[in-house]
Amino acid sequence: MAYKDLRAFLQRLKEEGQFVHVEQQVNLEPDLGACGRAVTSIGDNPPALLFDNLFGYEQGKRAVALNVIGSWANHALMLGLPKDTPVKEQFVEFSRRWDKFPIPVKEMKDAPFYKNEVTKDINLFDILPFFRLNDHDGGFYIDKACVISKDPVDPDNFGKQNVGVYRLQVKGKDHLGIQPVPMHDIAVQLRMAEERGQNLPVAIAIGNDPVILIMASSPLLYDQSEYEMAGAIQEEPYPVVKGKLTGLDIPWGAEVVLEGEIIGRKREPEGPFGEFTGSYSGGRSMPVVKIKAVYHRTNPIFEALYLGIPWTELDYMIGLNTCLPLYKQLKETFPEVVAVNAMYTHGLVAIISTKTRYGGFAKARSDYERSLRPMAWDIVRWSLSWMRMLIRLISIKSCGRSPRVSRPAKIWSLCPMSRSCRCIQPLSRRASPTKSSSTPLSRLLPISVANSLNPWTRRLQPPSGKKPCANL
Ligand SMILES: Cc1cc2nc3c(=O)[nH]c(=O)nc-3n(C[C@H](O)[C@H](O)[C@H](O)COP(=O)(O)O)c2cc1C
Repeated sequence: MAYKDLRAFLQRLKEEGQFVHVEQQVNLEPDLGACGRAVTSIGDNPPALLFDNLFGYEQGKRAVALNVIGSWANHALMLGLPKDTPVKEQFVEFSRRWDKFPIPVKEMKDAPFYKNEVTKDINLFDILPFFRLNDHDGGFYIDKACVISKDPVDPDNFGKQNVGVYRLQVKGKDHLGIQPVPMHDIAVQLRMAEERGQNLPVAIAIGNDPVILIMASSPLLYDQSEYEMAGAIQEEPYPVVKGKLTGLDIPWGAEVVLEGEIIGRKREPEGPFGEFTGSYSGGRSMPVVKIKAVYHRTNPIFEALYLGIPWTELDYMIGLNTCLPLYKQLKETFPEVVAVNAMYTHGLVAIISTKTRYGGFAKARSDYERSLRPMAWDIVRWSLSWMRMLIRLISIKSCGRSPRVSRPAKIWSLCPMSRSCRCIQPLSRRASPTKSSSTPLSRLLPISVANSLNPWTRRLQPPSGKKPCANL
């Protein structure tokens, strides 16, 4: 079932009708961000998008892929299952394969990305067509790459080599910002390196097969190898190749690879960036990556994803793989646990069902602001997880004047009351950059792209009598 690279997966998506090749010319900004946002709203199983006619680039020389894993159909195909496999069955199969961990990797001598190599006068802008996703993003981002690093104290321990997805802000020709959240493995490794007065070597793989991206987004134990788990999930050893500069193991099928190091004890402003919570994260001091070598395939594909109010591609990438470890850990202590659903806003809400051990064993609480549309389940899920958290945050920060918050609009207007809340702004839906046509998509997309998606949206129209998707 294994897909050797992103291109093989896109081919499969095409065969299954889960892929749209946009041949019309698009601007990098704002078209790609608008398309990324809009595609998440079309029907129950949005397709992947590939753009290879980018304004400012020769056609076919550079491409951008969006929303590659952005539907349950695409997620099922990632697992090699039929595209209509129900989510529950995907969970059961994912769980069965998870238990096969570890499957040792397959070490390769060469890789397609070694075809083109740049080690002098590196200019990332020559290689990757960067664009901003949301209006107030502080810069260009690489937001869907695998970042690989080793444990500086135990570098030969393969299990401790980490593969994670961490957002990277492009700050210069060979210079990135990185946001390692303190509890994540890369932050642990950076702390160890800094305590020793060292830099942390990293390899950054962009444009990957879907299985390694799912594993890189999974909360594995510190000494569990994402590569060995990828082998278990795809039921075949995962192919890796050594980085020429860092000696790190890199996904063989990557489109573009950057090698360099996180500079120890150096911090620079990073952000703001529209995040999975549906609001902007603020600008903070974050570590910095210096790039020393770039390798890429000929005519590489830049894979990215849109982030914003759920659901977006990110929610498929961190849905079942957040539920599964929680389920397994809870089940060990509480055998009555039947299922765990931690798919809403990156597990900020977890819904756990149990059998009853005694009266009151399982206590459920579920409420949401009545002013929200109760039937708009996407918004209810979002409000249950993120908005409730904001309400708590604002109550704590308002120095005893606990404000009565009844609707989201009011929450936003309260933000300036506290310094820590000032950065929280809702993400706007992007406006169409060109004049509208009669299709609902054209409100969000450039007209040429909306037209190319039209057959798709028609196919996904609900049966007559049902209302179309609320977001459109
Ligand atoms: C698209 C995407 C972007 C992410 N960005 C970040 C980030 O900037 N910083 C971070 O610490 N985690 C980020 N994450 C979450 C981590 O990848 C995820 O929690 C992972 O399990 C971390 O693994 P580790 O602690 O095992 O290294 C992101 C996840 C996804 C899917």
